Amino acid sequence: MKRLLSGIKPSGDLNIGGYGGALRQYVNLQHDYEAYFFVPDFHAVTVYQDPRKLHQRTRDIAALYIASGIDPRKATIFLQSQVPAHAELGWLLETQAHFGELKRMTQFKEKSDGKDTVSSALFTYPVLMAADVLLYQATHVPVGDDQKQHLELTRDVAERFNNRFGSTFIIPEPIIQDIGSRVMGLDDPSKKMSKSNPNKNSCVHMMDSPEDIRRKFSKAVTDSEGEVRHDWEQKPAVSNLIEIYSVFSEEDISVIEKRYDGQGYGTFKKELAEVVIEKLLPIQEKFHQIVDSSELDRILIDGAQRAAQTASGTLLAAKKAMGFVTF
Ligand code: TYM
Repeated sequence: MKRLLSGIKPSGDLNIGGYGGALRQYVNLQHDYEAYFFVPDFHAVTVYQDPRKLHQRTRDIAALYIASGIDPRKATIFLQSQVPAHAELGWLLETQAHFGELKRMTQFKEKSDGKDTVSSALFTYPVLMAADVLLYQATHVPVGDDQKQHLELTRDVAERFNNRFGSTFIIPEPIIQDIGSRVMGLDDPSKKMSKSNPNKNSCVHMMDSPEDIRRKFSKAVTDSEGEVRHDWEQKPAVSNLIEIYSVFSEEDISVIEKRYDGQGYGTFKKELAEVVIEKLLPIQEKFHQIVDSSELDRILIDGAQRAAQTASGTLLAAKKAMGFVTF
Protein backbone atom coordinates (compact mmCIF):
# COMPACT_ATOMS: atom_id res chain seq x y z
CA MET A 1 0.00 0.00 0.00
CA LYS A 2 1.28 3.46 -0.89
CA ARG A 3 0.99 5.99 1.91
CA LEU A 4 1.61 9.71 1.73
CA LEU A 5 2.34 12.19 4.50
CA SER A 6 3.25 15.84 4.41
CA GLY A 7 2.61 19.17 6.09
CA ILE A 8 3.11 22.92 6.08
CA LYS A 9 4.26 24.82 9.19
CA PRO A 10 1.92 27.47 10.57
CA SER A 11 4.72 29.96 11.09
CA GLY A 12 3.63 32.71 8.69
CA ASP A 13 1.25 33.41 5.85
CA LEU A 14 1.43 30.64 3.30
CA ASN A 15 2.84 31.90 0.02
CA ILE A 16 2.63 30.57 -3.51
CA GLY A 17 6.02 28.87 -3.04
CA GLY A 18 4.45 26.47 -0.55
CA TYR A 19 1.60 26.01 -2.99
CA GLY A 20 3.96 25.18 -5.88
CA GLY A 21 6.25 22.88 -3.93
CA ALA A 22 3.77 21.23 -1.62
CA LEU A 23 0.06 22.02 -1.54
CA ARG A 24 -0.51 21.58 -5.28
CA GLN A 25 1.12 18.18 -5.07
CA TYR A 26 -1.04 17.20 -2.10
CA VAL A 27 -4.19 17.89 -4.08
CA ASN A 28 -2.96 15.99 -7.13
CA LEU A 29 -1.62 12.99 -5.22
CA GLN A 30 -4.39 12.42 -2.66
CA HIS A 31 -6.31 10.04 -4.91
CA ASP A 32 -3.42 7.65 -5.53
CA TYR A 33 -2.34 7.18 -1.92
CA GLU A 34 -3.66 6.71 1.55
CA ALA A 35 -2.91 10.30 2.48
CA TYR A 36 -2.14 12.10 5.74
CA PHE A 37 -1.85 15.89 5.71
CA PHE A 38 -1.01 17.51 8.99
CA VAL A 39 -0.18 20.93 10.38
CA PRO A 40 3.26 20.71 12.05
CA ASP A 41 2.49 23.21 14.81
CA PHE A 42 5.19 21.75 17.09
CA HIS A 43 7.67 22.62 14.35
CA ALA A 44 6.46 26.20 14.20
CA VAL A 45 7.40 26.89 17.83
CA THR A 46 11.07 26.10 17.26
CA VAL A 47 11.19 29.87 16.82
CA TYR A 48 9.01 32.15 18.95
CA GLN A 49 5.40 32.39 17.82
CA ASP A 50 2.92 34.83 19.27
CA PRO A 51 0.34 32.45 20.84
CA ARG A 52 -2.67 34.16 19.27
CA LYS A 53 -1.08 34.19 15.85
CA LEU A 54 -0.03 30.55 16.14
CA HIS A 55 -3.60 29.62 17.02
CA GLN A 56 -5.03 31.43 14.00
CA ARG A 57 -2.36 30.32 11.55
CA THR A 58 -2.79 26.70 12.55
CA ARG A 59 -6.47 26.89 11.65
CA ASP A 60 -5.56 28.83 8.51
CA ILE A 61 -3.28 26.10 7.18
CA ALA A 62 -5.83 23.37 7.89
CA ALA A 63 -8.54 25.44 6.17
CA LEU A 64 -6.23 26.07 3.22
CA TYR A 65 -5.71 22.35 2.76
CA ILE A 66 -9.44 21.88 2.36
CA ALA A 67 -10.00 25.08 0.37
CA SER A 68 -7.30 24.01 -2.09
CA GLY A 69 -9.07 20.75 -2.77
CA ILE A 70 -7.95 18.16 -0.25
CA ASP A 71 -10.97 16.02 0.47
CA PRO A 72 -11.25 15.29 4.22
CA ARG A 73 -13.37 12.22 3.49
CA LYS A 74 -10.44 10.69 1.62
CA ALA A 75 -7.37 12.13 3.32
CA THR A 76 -6.71 12.39 7.03
CA ILE A 77 -6.17 16.01 8.06
CA PHE A 78 -4.89 16.70 11.57
CA LEU A 79 -2.79 18.87 13.86
CA GLN A 80 0.56 17.51 15.02
CA SER A 81 0.04 18.74 18.60
CA GLN A 82 -3.16 16.65 18.81
CA VAL A 83 -1.23 13.39 18.38
CA PRO A 84 1.21 12.94 21.28
CA ALA A 85 3.03 10.07 19.57
CA HIS A 86 4.94 12.62 17.45
CA ALA A 87 6.77 14.04 20.46
CA GLU A 88 7.36 10.60 21.94
CA LEU A 89 8.82 9.05 18.81
CA GLY A 90 10.75 12.28 18.27
CA TRP A 91 12.52 11.67 21.57
CA LEU A 92 13.28 8.04 20.78
CA LEU A 93 14.73 8.99 17.40
CA GLU A 94 16.89 11.68 18.95
CA THR A 95 18.83 8.81 20.48
CA GLN A 96 19.61 7.63 16.94
CA ALA A 97 20.39 10.93 15.24
CA HIS A 98 23.94 12.22 15.44
CA PHE A 99 24.94 15.67 16.64
CA GLY A 100 27.27 16.04 13.64
CA GLU A 101 24.61 15.28 11.04
CA LEU A 102 22.19 17.75 12.61
CA LYS A 103 24.92 20.38 12.58
CA ARG A 104 25.24 19.92 8.83
CA MET A 105 21.58 20.74 8.10
CA THR A 106 21.57 23.82 5.88
CA GLN A 107 18.25 25.10 7.22
CA PHE A 108 19.61 25.09 10.75
CA LYS A 109 22.73 26.88 9.59
CA GLU A 110 20.66 29.52 7.78
CA LYS A 111 18.18 30.04 10.59
CA SER A 112 20.79 30.21 13.33
CA ASP A 113 23.24 32.33 11.36
CA GLY A 114 24.12 35.53 13.22
CA LYS A 115 21.82 34.80 16.19
CA ASP A 116 23.16 34.91 19.74
CA THR A 117 20.76 32.25 20.95
CA VAL A 118 18.59 29.73 19.19
CA SER A 119 16.34 27.12 20.80
CA SER A 120 17.63 23.57 21.07
CA ALA A 121 14.38 22.55 19.37
CA LEU A 122 15.50 24.38 16.23
CA PHE A 123 18.54 22.12 16.24
CA THR A 124 16.63 18.85 16.72
CA TYR A 125 13.78 19.92 14.44
CA PRO A 126 14.67 17.47 11.62
CA VAL A 127 14.40 14.55 14.04
CA LEU A 128 10.83 15.50 14.90
CA MET A 129 10.20 15.66 11.17
CA ALA A 130 11.59 12.13 10.84
CA ALA A 131 9.17 11.03 13.57
CA ASP A 132 6.26 12.64 11.69
CA VAL A 133 7.01 10.64 8.59
CA LEU A 134 8.04 7.33 10.16
CA LEU A 135 5.08 7.14 12.56
CA TYR A 136 2.73 6.71 9.61
CA GLN A 137 5.02 4.35 7.69
CA ALA A 138 4.75 6.81 4.83
CA THR A 139 6.16 5.46 1.58
CA HIS A 140 6.16 8.89 -0.06
CA VAL A 141 6.59 12.46 1.15
CA PRO A 142 5.77 15.31 -1.26
CA VAL A 143 7.93 18.36 -0.47
CA GLY A 144 9.65 21.33 -2.06
CA ASP A 145 13.35 21.16 -2.82
CA ASP A 146 14.37 22.82 0.48
CA GLN A 147 13.17 19.80 2.49
CA LYS A 148 15.23 17.27 0.54
CA GLN A 149 18.06 17.23 3.08
CA HIS A 150 15.62 16.68 5.97
CA LEU A 151 14.11 13.74 4.12
CA GLU A 152 17.58 12.26 3.61
CA LEU A 153 18.14 12.52 7.35
CA THR A 154 14.79 10.79 7.94
CA ARG A 155 15.90 7.92 5.75
CA ASP A 156 19.30 7.68 7.47
CA VAL A 157 17.77 7.67 10.96
CA ALA A 158 15.19 5.05 9.93
CA GLU A 159 17.85 2.81 8.42
CA ARG A 160 20.04 3.15 11.50
CA PHE A 161 17.13 2.25 13.76
CA ASN A 162 16.13 -0.73 11.60
CA ASN A 163 19.69 -2.05 11.50
CA ARG A 164 20.11 -1.74 15.25
CA PHE A 165 16.71 -2.86 16.53
CA GLY A 166 15.17 -4.83 13.66
CA SER A 167 12.97 -3.80 10.81
CA THR A 168 10.49 -1.27 12.21
CA PHE A 169 10.15 1.65 9.82
CA ILE A 170 9.44 1.93 6.12
CA ILE A 171 12.11 3.98 4.36
CA PRO A 172 10.25 6.87 2.71
CA GLU A 173 10.87 8.42 -0.71
CA PRO A 174 10.54 12.16 -1.30
CA ILE A 175 8.38 13.38 -4.18
CA ILE A 176 9.90 16.57 -5.54
CA GLN A 177 8.44 17.96 -8.74
CA ASP A 178 10.54 19.29 -11.60
CA ILE A 179 8.46 22.44 -11.89
CA GLY A 180 7.47 24.44 -8.81
CA SER A 181 9.70 22.79 -6.22
CA ARG A 182 11.84 25.94 -5.93
CA VAL A 183 9.76 29.08 -6.27
CA MET A 184 12.11 32.03 -5.88
CA GLY A 185 11.56 35.59 -4.64
CA LEU A 186 10.08 38.01 -7.17
CA ASP A 187 12.73 40.59 -6.25
CA ASP A 188 15.70 38.21 -6.31
CA PRO A 189 15.70 34.85 -8.10
CA SER A 190 18.68 33.65 -6.06
CA LYS A 191 16.58 33.55 -2.86
CA LYS A 192 13.69 31.21 -2.09
CA MET A 193 10.29 32.89 -1.96
CA SER A 194 9.79 33.10 1.74
CA LYS A 195 7.45 34.48 4.31
CA SER A 196 10.38 36.02 6.17
CA ASN A 197 11.64 38.30 3.36
CA PRO A 198 11.12 41.92 4.53
CA ASN A 199 10.55 43.14 0.94
CA LYS A 200 6.75 43.03 0.63
CA ASN A 201 6.82 42.66 -3.15
CA SER A 202 9.04 39.57 -3.14
CA CYS A 203 6.40 37.14 -2.01
CA VAL A 204 2.79 36.48 -3.14
CA HIS A 205 0.62 35.16 -0.33
CA MET A 206 -2.22 32.75 -0.86
CA MET A 207 -4.62 35.31 0.62
CA ASP A 208 -3.36 38.36 -1.31
CA SER A 209 -5.94 40.56 -3.00
CA PRO A 210 -6.01 40.79 -6.82
CA GLU A 211 -4.59 44.35 -6.61
CA ASP A 212 -1.65 43.17 -4.50
CA ILE A 213 -0.98 40.26 -6.83
CA ARG A 214 -1.04 42.53 -9.90
CA ARG A 215 1.30 45.02 -8.22
CA LYS A 216 3.76 42.35 -7.10
CA PHE A 217 4.04 40.72 -10.51
CA SER A 218 4.33 44.07 -12.28
CA LYS A 219 7.29 44.89 -10.01
CA ALA A 220 8.91 41.47 -10.40
CA VAL A 221 12.49 41.64 -11.67
CA THR A 222 13.22 40.21 -15.14
CA ASP A 223 16.25 40.79 -17.38
CA SER A 224 17.17 43.01 -20.31
CA GLU A 225 16.72 40.37 -23.03
CA GLY A 226 12.95 40.69 -23.42
CA GLU A 227 12.39 37.05 -24.36
CA VAL A 228 10.00 34.76 -22.43
CA ARG A 229 12.30 31.75 -22.37
CA HIS A 230 12.90 29.15 -19.64
CA ASP A 231 16.62 28.92 -18.88
CA TRP A 232 17.64 28.85 -15.20
CA GLU A 233 21.31 29.49 -15.95
CA GLN A 234 20.94 32.55 -18.16
CA LYS A 235 17.52 33.84 -17.14
CA PRO A 236 16.67 32.87 -13.57
CA ALA A 237 14.14 35.65 -12.89
CA VAL A 238 12.10 34.99 -16.04
CA SER A 239 12.38 31.22 -15.58
CA ASN A 240 10.94 31.60 -12.09
CA LEU A 241 7.97 33.56 -13.46
CA ILE A 242 7.40 30.98 -16.20
CA GLU A 243 7.40 28.21 -13.60
CA ILE A 244 4.87 30.09 -11.47
CA TYR A 245 2.73 30.48 -14.58
CA SER A 246 3.03 26.75 -15.27
CA VAL A 247 2.12 25.84 -11.67
CA PHE A 248 -1.02 27.94 -11.77
CA SER A 249 -2.17 27.29 -15.34
CA GLU A 250 -1.08 23.64 -15.30
CA GLU A 251 0.35 24.11 -18.77
CA ASP A 252 3.72 22.92 -20.02
CA ILE A 253 6.59 25.40 -20.09
CA SER A 254 6.86 25.03 -23.89
CA VAL A 255 3.21 26.04 -24.36
CA ILE A 256 3.80 29.18 -22.31
CA GLU A 257 7.03 30.05 -24.14
CA LYS A 258 5.22 29.73 -27.48
CA ARG A 259 2.26 31.86 -26.36
CA TYR A 260 4.51 34.79 -25.41
CA ASP A 261 7.01 34.39 -28.21
CA GLY A 262 8.02 37.88 -29.38
CA GLN A 263 5.68 39.67 -26.96
CA GLY A 264 8.09 41.07 -24.33
CA TYR A 265 7.60 40.94 -20.60
CA GLY A 266 4.77 43.45 -20.09
CA THR A 267 1.93 41.30 -21.44
CA PHE A 268 3.44 38.15 -19.95
CA LYS A 269 3.59 39.60 -16.42
CA LYS A 270 0.06 41.02 -16.65
CA GLU A 271 -1.39 37.72 -17.78
CA LEU A 272 0.65 35.79 -15.23
CA ALA A 273 -1.00 37.85 -12.48
CA GLU A 274 -4.45 37.01 -13.91
CA VAL A 275 -3.65 33.28 -14.08
CA VAL A 276 -2.62 33.32 -10.42
CA ILE A 277 -5.67 35.38 -9.38
CA GLU A 278 -8.03 33.06 -11.24
CA LYS A 279 -6.70 30.06 -9.34
CA LEU A 280 -6.55 31.78 -5.96
CA LEU A 281 -9.96 33.46 -5.86
CA PRO A 282 -12.06 30.28 -5.44
CA ILE A 283 -9.51 28.96 -2.90
CA GLN A 284 -9.80 32.19 -0.91
CA GLU A 285 -13.59 32.06 -1.02
CA LYS A 286 -13.73 28.48 0.26
CA PHE A 287 -11.09 29.32 2.86
CA HIS A 288 -13.24 32.10 4.34
CA GLN A 289 -16.25 29.79 4.52
CA ILE A 290 -14.41 27.11 6.41
CA VAL A 291 -11.72 28.71 8.57
CA ASP A 292 -13.88 29.60 11.57
CA SER A 293 -16.47 26.86 11.09
CA SER A 294 -17.33 24.02 13.44
CA GLU A 295 -17.00 21.78 10.38
CA LEU A 296 -13.25 22.44 10.47
CA ASP A 297 -13.18 21.48 14.19
CA ARG A 298 -14.96 18.22 13.38
CA ILE A 299 -12.57 17.40 10.54
CA LEU A 300 -9.56 18.01 12.79
CA ILE A 301 -10.95 16.04 15.74
CA ASP A 302 -11.82 13.12 13.50
CA GLY A 303 -8.46 13.38 11.71
CA ALA A 304 -6.52 13.33 14.98
CA GLN A 305 -8.34 10.19 16.10
CA ARG A 306 -7.58 8.40 12.87
CA ALA A 307 -3.98 9.59 12.87
CA ALA A 308 -3.47 8.56 16.50
CA GLN A 309 -4.64 5.06 15.72
CA THR A 310 -2.07 4.59 12.96
CA ALA A 311 0.67 6.34 14.93
CA SER A 312 0.19 4.38 18.15
CA GLY A 313 0.82 1.06 16.36
CA THR A 314 4.18 2.24 15.04
CA LEU A 315 5.17 3.83 18.34
CA LEU A 316 4.44 0.61 20.21
CA ALA A 317 6.51 -1.40 17.71
CA ALA A 318 9.44 1.03 18.08
CA LYS A 319 9.29 0.90 21.89
CA LYS A 320 9.13 -2.88 21.92
CA ALA A 321 12.05 -3.08 19.50
CA MET A 322 14.14 -0.86 21.79
CA GLY A 323 13.35 -2.97 24.83
CA PHE A 324 10.87 -0.83 26.73
CA VAL A 325 8.39 -2.67 28.91
CA THR A 326 5.03 -2.50 27.15
CA PHE A 327 1.67 -3.97 28.16
P1 TYM B 1 7.56 24.60 5.39
O1 TYM B 1 6.40 24.87 6.26
O2 TYM B 1 8.72 25.54 5.42
O3 TYM B 1 7.10 24.51 3.89
C1 TYM B 1 6.00 23.69 3.52
C2 TYM B 1 6.24 23.04 2.18
O4 TYM B 1 6.33 24.03 1.17
C3 TYM B 1 7.55 23.90 0.48
N1 TYM B 1 8.02 25.24 0.14
C4 TYM B 1 8.38 25.61 -1.08
N2 TYM B 1 8.37 24.95 -2.24
C5 TYM B 1 8.79 25.62 -3.34
N3 TYM B 1 9.22 26.91 -3.32
C6 TYM B 1 9.23 27.62 -2.17
N4 TYM B 1 9.62 28.89 -2.16
C7 TYM B 1 8.80 26.96 -0.97
N5 TYM B 1 8.66 27.35 0.33
C8 TYM B 1 8.18 26.28 0.99
C9 TYM B 1 8.49 23.18 1.44
O5 TYM B 1 9.50 22.49 0.76
C10 TYM B 1 7.54 22.24 2.14
O6 TYM B 1 7.34 21.06 1.41
N6 TYM B 1 9.85 20.95 7.84
C11 TYM B 1 8.73 21.24 6.98
C12 TYM B 1 7.38 20.87 7.59
C13 TYM B 1 7.30 19.46 8.03
C14 TYM B 1 7.15 18.31 7.20
C15 TYM B 1 7.10 17.20 8.09
C16 TYM B 1 7.02 18.15 5.83
C17 TYM B 1 7.37 19.02 9.32
N7 TYM B 1 7.25 17.64 9.35
C18 TYM B 1 6.97 15.90 7.59
C19 TYM B 1 6.88 16.83 5.35
C20 TYM B 1 6.86 15.73 6.22
C21 TYM B 1 8.74 22.73 6.70
O7 TYM B 1 9.24 23.50 7.47
O8 TYM B 1 8.06 23.11 5.60
